[in-house]
Amino acid sequence: MSSILIANGPNINLLGTRQPHIYGTASLKDIESLCRERATHYQLSLECIQSNHEGELVDAIQGAHGRHNGIVINPAAFTHTSIAIHDALTATGLPIIEVHLSNIFQRENFRTHSYVSPIADGVICGLGPEGYGLAIDALAKIIEARES
Ligand code: DQA
Repeated sequence: MSSILIANGPNINLLGTRQPHIYGTASLKDIESLCRERATHYQLSLECIQSNHEGELVDAIQGAHGRHNGIVINPAAFTHTSIAIHDALTATGLPIIEVHLSNIFQRENFRTHSYVSPIADGVICGLGPEGYGLAIDALAKIIEARES
């Protein structure tokens, strides 16, 4: 059975109460349930992690090599700052889908640069929680193509 890692960065644990006009009212738990349902549909097993710490995210990404077949990541604020996360994702050699709940291009200028996008297979932003579902749809197809 193929397996995917869903990784969420800093402050994503606050979803539901954090700036609901931007991020909506779904909690991280709600998003993880949506991911579980979608992964089950494709018979993918799933590990979900969230951390406010860059090093913990790097460790989890490194750990995905050999354990998972792809990664969906919302690096949150580290999107715009972290070469370490860029390098860790690259080192896994796994397909990567970058997700943002909000449309980062409609917001402050500093959010328009992503260190992850250049090494991601795809980027989804502005579609709220369903972005994670669409990322799993895409990853399922990429993993299937890689395995056949
Ligand atoms: C975010 C967008 C980032 O700019 C921000 O720092 C986040 C969340 C999103 O999901 O829209 O924390 O990644």
